[in-house]
Amino acid sequence: MKLSSLLIAVAAGSAMAVPVQEKKRASPFQWIGTNEAGAEFGEDTIPGNYGTEFIFPDVSTISTLIDHGMNTFRIQFKMERLAPDMTGAWVDGYLQNLTTVVNAVTDAGSYAILDPHNYGRFNNEIITDTAGFQTFWKNLAGEFKGNNLVIFDTNNEYNTMDQELVLNLNQAAIDGIRAAGATEQYIFVEGNQWSGAWSWVDVNDNMKALTDPQDKIVYEMHQYLDSDSSGTNEACVSGTIGVERITEATQWLKDNGKVGILGEFAGANNDVCRTAVSGMLEYLANNTDVWQGAVWWAAGPWWADYMFNMEPPTGPAYTGMLDILEPYLG
Ligand SMILES: *[C@@H]1O[C@H](CO)[C@@H](O)[C@H](O)[C@H]1NC(C)=O
Ligand SMILES: *[C@@H]1O[C@H](CO)[C@@H](O)[C@H](O)[C@H]1NC(C)=O
Repeated sequence: MKLSSLLIAVAAGSAMAVPVQEKKRASPFQWIGTNEAGAEFGEDTIPGNYGTEFIFPDVSTISTLIDHGMNTFRIQFKMERLAPDMTGAWVDGYLQNLTTVVNAVTDAGSYAILDPHNYGRFNNEIITDTAGFQTFWKNLAGEFKGNNLVIFDTNNEYNTMDQELVLNLNQAAIDGIRAAGATEQYIFVEGNQWSGAWSWVDVNDNMKALTDPQDKIVYEMHQYLDSDSSGTNEACVSGTIGVERITEATQWLKDNGKVGILGEFAGANNDVCRTAVSGMLEYLANNTDVWQGAVWWAAGPWWADYMFNMEPPTGPAYTGMLDILEPYLG
């Protein structure tokens, strides 16, 4: 329920208004929101130029989405643009611009997920230097350790990599983050094969071995609803495909005492996808013992008429799909 409708309900139903600070979010989820793409764009040109190859999310449209009841923004960026040597110094302007977006989100009381959108790679090579990766994360977590609304996402969509390496990179990230003194923040881990929920149990069972002294690991999975789960086709397989594709992973979370988040999901604005997305969200909300949220793919200033574009005011998903998310917003 939105604050405005809550106040109307209170005004109609009783003499005493509920103070704003006592309002509980109506969302069943701890985290509900959208990805914020742009700073990872133009990845074939590294570092590339601000305004030509890449852009940062717009804090004013984020504010509009917060007004709609979103409380979580997963912010894409490229590791190479931030730290050209991975373990070395920052590019200050890029860190500054990233921090501006993070602070705008968290100053509003929402969560900012830092998403190195690197697919387990650095300069197009699979990252095998787990110690270097740990240092990268120790350095980055050090910048944000004072902000408990920041969430660290170890890497976007590891894929076609050695399975043990994916486990070790995630553990290295966790160890680096905690070594930085960032002890309060959640850490989102991702699996191999694009972290797909539909293949999670077959591919990523070894990930249950990850450990965190703070016990704040959240398993981030992604799920699209077209035939190959890539999110590139506007046709969804069926109205029930969303539920079908996350059922096994849900059981895996329950069986192993883990919690998860759907860190990317979407569907185009057509009847089958609307039914499929809405069914999947309902299923997540029916299983909040293990599913703690969902994050739409994607908002961002440069998506134009992209079918999943959640950017206000004219993105096709903002104008056409927000009503499907509405029951789950705060
Ligand atoms: C940071 O953003 C400013 C605009 O606010 C821009 O002029 C600058 O080029 C950006 N730098 C980087 C490295 O993104
Ligand atoms: C969610 O739970 C309700 C109540 O038990 C049930 O009627 C509904 O079918 C469930 N939805 C999904 C998608 O599992």
